[in-house]
Amino acid sequence: MSLLATIKNISEFVGQEVRLGVWLHIKRSSGKIHFLQLRDGTGFIQGVVVKSEVSEETWNASKSLTQESSLYVTGIVRKDERSKIGYELNVTGIEIIQIAQEYPITKKEHGTDFLMDHRHLWIRSPRQRAILAIRGEIIRAIQEYLNQNGFTLVDPPILTPTSAEGTTNLFHTKYFEEDAYLSQSGQLYMEAAALALGRVYSFGPTFRAEKSKTRRHLIEFWMIEPEMAFVEHEENLQIQEEFVSHIVRSVLKNCKRELETLGRDVSKLEKVVAPFPRITYDNAIEFLQQEGFDIKWGEDFGAPHETALAEKFDKPVFITHFPTELKAFYMKPDPNRPEVVLAADLIAPEGYGEIIGGSQRIDDPELLEQRFKDHNLSMEAYKWYLDLRKYGSVPHSGFGLGLERTVAWICGIEHVRETIPFPRLLNRLYP
Ligand code: 4AD
Ligand code: MG
Repeated sequence: MSLLATIKNISEFVGQEVRLGVWLHIKRSSGKIHFLQLRDGTGFIQGVVVKSEVSEETWNASKSLTQESSLYVTGIVRKDERSKIGYELNVTGIEIIQIAQEYPITKKEHGTDFLMDHRHLWIRSPRQRAILAIRGEIIRAIQEYLNQNGFTLVDPPILTPTSAEGTTNLFHTKYFEEDAYLSQSGQLYMEAAALALGRVYSFGPTFRAEKSKTRRHLIEFWMIEPEMAFVEHEENLQIQEEFVSHIVRSVLKNCKRELETLGRDVSKLEKVVAPFPRITYDNAIEFLQQEGFDIKWGEDFGAPHETALAEKFDKPVFITHFPTELKAFYMKPDPNRPEVVLAADLIAPEGYGEIIGGSQRIDDPELLEQRFKDHNLSMEAYKWYLDLRKYGSVPHSGFGLGLERTVAWICGIEHVRETIPFPRLLNRLYP
């Protein structure tokens, strides 16, 4: 009997007897047969218990199982065309670990608040499990791409004395006698690391006290921030499109069953192959005006604008050369046209919004000092950052990929709250 079997790799065990540690998801009964929907974390399988074929002890054990009871099940793996996964388990034995108390999440429709209050249990459901499995695959693919392309993982601090992305949405805390803030982005530290290691990336949580209650905003989210010395604007975009294509390709290859559970239209994902289209901010504004939007040059895009732009393409699209005034202090102005910066946002298709923000960084010390003044930033606090431009400054670029928005897009789900195990939202810190 194999102890190595899991539901995910059950196809390797056809005709063999296996023993699995499982939970009962749903039980259906037709008198002399029980159909047990079992889950082991790697997937779901139907176990069939036939009264006339098992011991009385096993039959009674099967009878006593409540939803989410835990058990070891023994059975013979059979190919079954009618089954979703193509296999079934002919149950031969049951060892109960625990009979679960009445489970709060039932087959009836529950409201979002109820489900979010029970997030610790909700993640066991087929849909939520599929989303988290895809999140795991996305993380794996991210690390694979970056590790294979010469990037070194570097960890920036979480507690910081200054802001990286603007001062409006910082989480404040005391750091003994000093003031500190939870990191909004590791970027500034990654720039220092890029000048030490060439190509680097960080992968960690970031915090934004955003008062926005939208389907795209979390208070705590995970960001991947690659930063590259000697890389300029155009090459920055090429790396991003290859990186995103690699992520999508990996999910299509390794998460077929999960995408099916979610009912994802994979034909849309199959089109996500580099190169991606590029459109300048100028052209984007012109297009939006033609479409009847009331938006002027110099204004930022909102969700409806991003969705309208994305609808023109069946791949993610880069919006480039934003007005300098609109963007962060560190972005490098276009030398031919200083009123715009060498930056790009990558907008996902199907209305999922911005998944990447990136730019070439200012490398000239005088210009950077000027930008500190323009943005009323304390020279003292950013002294170390200015040093990077004094001692062997080089052109360098980087970007930040928002993990949860990427998961939402690839999974095709409505709200980012389902893309992270325990979401931190405007009105939610529990569980
Ligand atoms: O565009 P952002 O603010 O860029 C930065 O923080 C840069 N320092 C990154 C860099 O160049 N190293 O954020 C990057 C991405 C966004 O495109 C979005 O996908 C995600 O982070 N993001 C959020 N995701 C969920 N909830 C929020 N509140 C988010 N804010 C940004
Ligand atoms: Mg942005």
